[in-house]
Amino acid sequence: MIYLDNAATSWPKPGTVARAMTDFMDNIGANPGRSGHRLSVEAGRVVLEAREKVATLFGAKDPMRVVFGLNATDALNLAIRGTVRKGDHVITGAMEHNSVMRPLRDLQREGVELSIVPADREGFVDPIDVSHAMKPNTRLVVMNQASNVVGSLIPTDQIGRIAHNGGALFLVDAAQTGGCYPIDIESDGIDLLAFTGHKGLYGPQGTGGLVISERVDISDLRPVRSGGTGSRSEHEVQPDFLPDKYESGTMNTVGLAGLAAGVDFVLNETVESIREKDIELTRRLINGLGGADDIVIYGAMEAARQTSTLSINIEDRSPSSVGLALDEDHGIMCRVGLHCSPSAHRSLGTFPEGTVRLAMGYFNTDDEIDTVIDALRGMV
Ligand SMILES: Cc1ncc(COP(=O)(O)O)c(C=O)c1O
Repeated sequence: MIYLDNAATSWPKPGTVARAMTDFMDNIGANPGRSGHRLSVEAGRVVLEAREKVATLFGAKDPMRVVFGLNATDALNLAIRGTVRKGDHVITGAMEHNSVMRPLRDLQREGVELSIVPADREGFVDPIDVSHAMKPNTRLVVMNQASNVVGSLIPTDQIGRIAHNGGALFLVDAAQTGGCYPIDIESDGIDLLAFTGHKGLYGPQGTGGLVISERVDISDLRPVRSGGTGSRSEHEVQPDFLPDKYESGTMNTVGLAGLAAGVDFVLNETVESIREKDIELTRRLINGLGGADDIVIYGAMEAARQTSTLSINIEDRSPSSVGLALDEDHGIMCRVGLHCSPSAHRSLGTFPEGTVRLAMGYFNTDDEIDTVIDALRGMV
């Protein structure tokens, strides 16, 4: 079996992730920040440890500025709905996932102005187009750091500068880059960073969050949920301090125990070495498939300009038939279709059928990539 669906969720996970979760369930189990007994305190320590590790990974000085939620979608909803008001203008790119597009389309119906900057046929957005789209009422520029369809990377620092020069906030969707591409919210000019726990951070599904830079005044970021936090229980209004303002209800503490172990793995291996391995695997796959007559590769076809996610098609075969054959005949698992990103596929010219997405991860080997190349060349 060869798992090439790491852009959907990473697998396998380092063994320490499941062990940390089992340890939490067997030996701690309590609700963090709610009670004063030792198990609750210990659960609170687990959450704090996860917060500190995520802050270290993304260059946030204050771990309290890491706010946990369900996943990247949840964090993007908080950042978008929390900052944008009727009459504001928002800029995004054509390569976005529906976790950005759908909240923006909802807000557009409620009186928010939206500009979608086009992407070229390789899936890249030109920062100059972003600067041309800026208006006096631009409140937010939101973009994924890498496309989940072809892995195309954006120059975050340049786009951050453009947003800041125009007085707007810069929100980055790091679902495809967190843990596998270097991110520093300060030098990258990122005001709000939405991350997911279950992809490059190797945590379990149902974890993720938002990193809020010091540049953001939290009185301008409304929570999308309010409720019990375990703090200030005498008040019926939501606490106005971090992280409680945005973390109502019991957390996925067992998930965060796993997330802390996943981020620990990334920090120990180092993002740089993970990125190096990704580049090697991507280069191998591109070289192995390039030149095959009937295989079309989308995107940059240049490992240094993308993540380890590659989209391909075989001429005259539907992506779903290729995906089925890869699974049934070769034990290769990938994802076909539109990948929740219809606008990205329109930009690439692959709408509505989509593509076969081969998303490699740190645990894939050269031999596996060679098997995939042989399988696809064999199908041609
Ligand atoms: C670019 C991008 N943004 C957002 C998401 C949503 O992530 P999650 O499923 O963790 O909410 C994904 C998931 O595939 C993604 O690829």
